[in-house]
Amino acid sequence: MQGWIDVGPADLIEGELRGLEVGERLVLLARYQGRITAMDDSCNHAGCLLSGGWMHEKKGAVVCPCHEYAFELGTGRNVTYPRLCDDQAAFEVRIERGRVMIHIPPE
Ligand code: FES
Repeated sequence: MQGWIDVGPADLIEGELRGLEVGERLVLLARYQGRITAMDDSCNHAGCLLSGGWMHEKKGAVVCPCHEYAFELGTGRNVTYPRLCDDQAAFEVRIERGRVMIHIPPE
């Protein structure tokens, strides 16, 4: 299927954050409440890697290790107040035959 990229096995454990290089991009995969999500791994605030952060269970968000902004898993929405940076780009995810497929729209 056009535009979909196989980024590896769908073997993430619950709560896992996994950083990947996908072409030129850094992508964060996460498993939260059984669902695998994908977003830009490079924080839009100052470029730290979200995969080095942690999951905020209550918010369903990943917390950046540098300044602790939180981005909702699945949507990439910045759920930190005050909002001092943008939302993260989030990518559609499909699981096919045990593999994670993500869709990165052309820039
Ligand atoms: S670099 Fe992520 S919150 Fe500042």
